Amino acid sequence: MALIEIRDLVKKFDRQVVLDGINLDVVEGEVKVVMGTSGCGKSTLLRCINRLVEPSSGTIHFRGQDITGHGVDVRALRQSIGFVFQQFALYRHLTVLDNVTLALRKLRGMSRAEAEEKALHELARLDMADHRDKYPAQTSGGQKQRAALARALAMDPAVVVLDEPTSALDPVMSREVAQLIDRLHRENVTMLCVTHDLLLAGSIADRVTFLDKGVIRAEDTIAHLSKHHPDEQVRAFFGCEENAR
Ligand SMILES: Nc1ncnc2c1ncn2[C@@H]1O[C@H](COP(=O)(O)OP(=O)(O)OP(=O)(O)O)[C@@H](O)[C@H]1O
Ligand SMILES: [Mg+2]
Repeated sequence: MALIEIRDLVKKFDRQVVLDGINLDVVEGEVKVVMGTSGCGKSTLLRCINRLVEPSSGTIHFRGQDITGHGVDVRALRQSIGFVFQQFALYRHLTVLDNVTLALRKLRGMSRAEAEEKALHELARLDMADHRDKYPAQTSGGQKQRAALARALAMDPAVVVLDEPTSALDPVMSREVAQLIDRLHRENVTMLCVTHDLLLAGSIADRVTFLDKGVIRAEDTIAHLSKHHPDEQVRAFFGCEENAR
């Protein structure tokens, strides 16, 4: 059984069909990468998984339980599914350390000392311990992204969901984030990452899932999609990587 099983997922905003029958599995220990152009529904898909968006129809099973129905403990769900948002979403008035300890204290009920010990462990794991006392405004984009990841990992989630983790970063910092995701993968952290960054996708996953206008069009290696996919638009999307090199 996959950790996350999405079946026939449909999401409409008024009459706009944003997700049009998505079927997707995330298996424990894997890094699943979903790619697609801006506005194709990537963030909406992720938001359905942790119930920030209510699906119009279809099911999402997490560890075998349907999490789209009534009576789901959304708070517990969000503790099991770590979310790293497109725009970091760190609290500006809190230091890096306090950003990481907040949920440990408020949701896990840890004492300050316990929470700080756990947070420092996660920050050190992501080479962020030296920046613990900085406010988000005093950190670089890559450091913000690592702080957001540390905050997600501190909750020991079953899966970490990443929404465009490199969209706000320059190429050097993007590569750092890619290396970090790779390392977490080797440490057996399950991740679902959506991105339109071909270099990121190519360096963290062998195969990618291509989402286009709310439908999954393909699942294959980037090399295969860029050369052999029957749809010219798909080939063009994935061919950009070669142009960039
Ligand atoms: N709350 C909402 N209300 C109405 N329409 C929405 C809402 N959220 C998203 N949409 C629409 O759904 C479509 C998909 O949006 P989404 O944010 O999922 O795209 P995306 O693939 O993440 O794009 P990007 O790569 O730019 O982040 C867009 O047309 C967007 O305008
Ligand atoms: Mg998005």
